[in-house]
Parts: sequence; C-alpha cells; structure tokens
Amino acid sequence: MSARSEPGVPARPTVRSSGSLLVDNIGELVTNAPGAEGDPLGLRRDAALLIEDGEVAWIGPARYAPAADRRIDADGAAVLPGFVDSHAHLVFAGDRAAEFAARMSGEPYTGGGIRTTVGATRAASDDELRATVGRLRGEAMRQGTTTIEIKSGYGLTVADETRSLRIAAEFTEDTTFLGAHVVPAEYADRPDDYVGLVCGPMLAAAAPYARWIDVFCERGAFDVDHARAILACGQAVGLGVRVHANQLGPGPGVQLGVELGAASVDHCTHLSDADVDALAGSATVATLLPGAEFSTRSPYPDARRLLDAGVTVALATDCNPGSSYTSSMPFCIALAVREMRMTPAEAVWAATAGGAAALRRTDVGRLARGARADLIILDAPSHLHLAYRPGVPLIRQVLHNGVPQCRP
Ligand code: NIG
Ligand code: FE
Repeated sequence: MSARSEPGVPARPTVRSSGSLLVDNIGELVTNAPGAEGDPLGLRRDAALLIEDGEVAWIGPARYAPAADRRIDADGAAVLPGFVDSHAHLVFAGDRAAEFAARMSGEPYTGGGIRTTVGATRAASDDELRATVGRLRGEAMRQGTTTIEIKSGYGLTVADETRSLRIAAEFTEDTTFLGAHVVPAEYADRPDDYVGLVCGPMLAAAAPYARWIDVFCERGAFDVDHARAILACGQAVGLGVRVHANQLGPGPGVQLGVELGAASVDHCTHLSDADVDALAGSATVATLLPGAEFSTRSPYPDARRLLDAGVTVALATDCNPGSSYTSSMPFCIALAVREMRMTPAEAVWAATAGGAAALRRTDVGRLARGARADLIILDAPSHLHLAYRPGVPLIRQVLHNGVPQCRP
C-alpha cells in the first residue's frame, strides 16, 4: 500500500517475482511517461525492460539490456502497462440475459433490473459469490486487466453488503461500498430510513473492507441530497469518493462529485457545459463506460468534448450482469475509438494511466522504474491494433507483479 494516497483495506499477500526477468526485443513500448507533444503514451521503440522483486527496475534500448536470470522474447511485439479497470460490479449472482434481449428489441434500460440481481445475490452462498468473482477476475486478467476495482451494491442489507466487500477484498485492494445502489424493495416507501441505514450500521460494518464509497445519483435511485449525505458519511470514516453520475439523463451527480473532491465521476453520458467546466477545473477524473451504452443501446458519451476541455478521462468496463456484462478492456478501447471520438492513443492511455488516476494510484498504469511490473505483451506490433482489430484475442501474455500469468 506504500504508493497509496487514501485509506483502504489491508493489502492481500502479493505474489511477486523473484530473481530478475528481462522482457527483451520489444518493438513498441507504451510507458505513459510524459513524452513529446502528440505522444501521450511515451512510446519507445526497440526497448527492453528489466523486472526485479515485482517492480520495473530498468527500461532502455534493447542493445543495452542487462543480464538477467530469465528472459522473455517479445519478438518485436508491442508491450503496454496492464489495464486498470476502475469500475466493476463483480459480486453478484444470476444473470439478466433476457433483459438484454428485451432491450435489443426496444425496451429501455432504467436500472430497474438491479433489484432482480439483489434478490439472486442475497440467496447465494459465499462460495457461489466467490466463484463468480474469481471467474470474472480471471476472465479480465486474460484480457490484460492487472488492476480492478470491485463494488458491492447487490446486497443492500448490512450482512449482504459486508460479505460482498469481504469477498471483493479477497481479489483486490480497490473495493467500493455501494450500499446506495438503489433503494431495496423493502424500503421503497421510506427511502430516508434506508439512507439512515446506509450511513449508520451498514457503513460501520462495511467500511473496514472498503477503500471507496460510491452512490448511484440518478432519477429512480438516489437524489442529490441523499447522495451528498451518504458520500459525506463515507468521507468522515476515511473512504474516498466516487459517484455514478449522469448515466440515464442530465443531473447534479457530476457537480456533486467535483464539489466533494471525488476521485472519479463515472458514466458522464449526459453532460451540460457547466458539468464539463466543473470537471475541467478539478482533479476529478471522468470515467467513461462504453460497455454500458453498447449493452443498453444508448447514445455514447462524447469523450472528445471532455478531452478538448482538458478533463482527465478514464475508460472502464462497468462489468455487471445488467447494463454491461463485459470484462474486456480491449472491447471498451475499440468502442471508445469508434464511437466516442477518442484516438487510439487516448483510449489506451485512458484504459491504463486514466484508470490509475481514477483510483488515485501511482504504482500502476505506467511503466517506469519503481512501477509495479504489470504488463501486457500483445500479439501485434502496435497499440493501434487494440482498436484496429476489435474482438480479436490480441493479449499474448500478461505479467502481474512481474509474474507471468497463464496464457489465454
Ligand atoms: O453502472 N447504474 C448503476 N449501476 C450499474 C448497473 C447495474 C445493473 O443494471 O445491474 C451501472 O450501469
Ligand atoms: Fe456501474
């Protein structure tokens, strides 16, 4: 947790590489180091990278590569930092494939299906939930995701939110308490009482397992006063703030997030000029989730408008059984380029360094001496191929803490 700026759960024991490992013969290395004008990715050609103790120990021209205990030949391929997926809802049971099919036949997405998943999640055992998180975490890793944030939000009782976060913490340090996802059916007539539960006993039980607090601030979920109260309670016990905002329509969520110093406001599909201005003058990241627009057949957010205003943009999957059942960051990169007016370089930056900024982490999302040795070797010569070859399994190998993971 040394590089972390906010409180969180105790770190899981980390498997780090031992000895030194040289990744050699890299055709194109994405470092995300601030580089020349027009090169947001800090690209280096014909590079090599040395890993020691799970960290990047050296980067330089391949011809000066030092000796190492082991070597991986990248064979001229592109190497990138592992993807940082800063928004995922992996603790759930059941699926909502029928709801997806209905949407593709014209039904709108309203978020109403969240309660269906709440019912299935409450009925599931710990081991069933753990197996689902593990399956999706493995799926994401095979697609290049080396850091992932995981939210609660399908339990909505003290016990079910707490166990969701306890299970999430077995898989990531970036756990988020989303007890304010929707008002559960049993509180439908008394939302104030539910907000009291979230701010009181639920937060007290959940906070030890959480680094972040999040609220779905949207018509049909939580209004701005409830959202502000809940987020302030979370801040008071040391949690960092993130907000689901402006997904289904215009609203106050984005500006609330900026007001509270949120690390990130997520979705940002419907933004006013004042929302964009607020973000541009702040340290809050706008996290865009194009899997949700794809799966709900909704208009995509305009990333170009945000980028041109100087806003820091992240891309994440929003992996969940309702609005975006994908764990694939390459898919989100391709959507962002094709549908949201991002360049391939901007989309790759947003999926790596942008995600790290959204989680306020400096140890991941970049490749430089001292960074965590989380990297992807592509089956392609350039990062451009991630958008140019959509749907193709381009992730040849993933290293996490310097440890090669199983090949896809
Ligand atoms: O980020 N918008 C709120 N929460 C999720 C959707 C959850 C669901 O539909 O189950 C989202 O899209
Ligand atoms: Fe979400």
